[in-house]
Amino acid sequence: MTARLLVLVSGSGTNLQALLDACADPSYGAEVVAVGADRDGIQALTRAEQAGVPTFVHRVDDFPSRAEWDAAVTGEVSSYRPDVVVLAGFMKLLGSSYLPALGARTVNTHPALSPSFPGMHGPRDALEYGVRVTGCTLFVIDDGVDTGPIVDQRAVRVEDDDTVETLHERIKSAERSMLVEAVGRMAREGFRIEGRRVRFGG
Ligand code: GAR
Repeated sequence: MTARLLVLVSGSGTNLQALLDACADPSYGAEVVAVGADRDGIQALTRAEQAGVPTFVHRVDDFPSRAEWDAAVTGEVSSYRPDVVVLAGFMKLLGSSYLPALGARTVNTHPALSPSFPGMHGPRDALEYGVRVTGCTLFVIDDGVDTGPIVDQRAVRVEDDDTVETLHERIKSAERSMLVEAVGRMAREGFRIEGRRVRFGG
């Protein structure tokens, strides 16, 4: 059975593209059934359209409250009956409607080695701290900021001449292969959460 993936994005969508490319091979075991965003005019939406995948946009500013935005996102995502939701550079926290409905099947990719450097600026914060190794983390979301049970991580060395941009690009390269490998296993084998651990298999 082919697993149904729904991907939420806010930016350039290189992680989305890696998933779309992987899904082109039937043996990968998953298809992207829709891509959702919190803003218009981003490259990630163009990538989805070019792949023939349905898209939707819900902007926080178009709703009377954050809670109503969260409920609208929850309803739209649920309507596609996803097996796994991937937050691939989605720059919003999901809240009180979303988490009970879909949180346990939603993974987020973060450009740092959790629990270090949570939040919006993982590569910058790692560089400013002066760590020699950083990386990326795929985790199941919970009500914290980048705190959920970890599915996988990859380490990336910080080079002497790194800028935030060069470091983030190297992290993103590691992130794409981590994401494709881990989401493929989640799709083909299923997964479960045991305390802080995420286990593959039904
Ligand atoms: C990725 O590095 C992802 O980890 C990061 O945004 C980038 C998206 O790149 N997400 C966060 O920082 C979320 N807190 P992409 O749009 O090219 O896939």
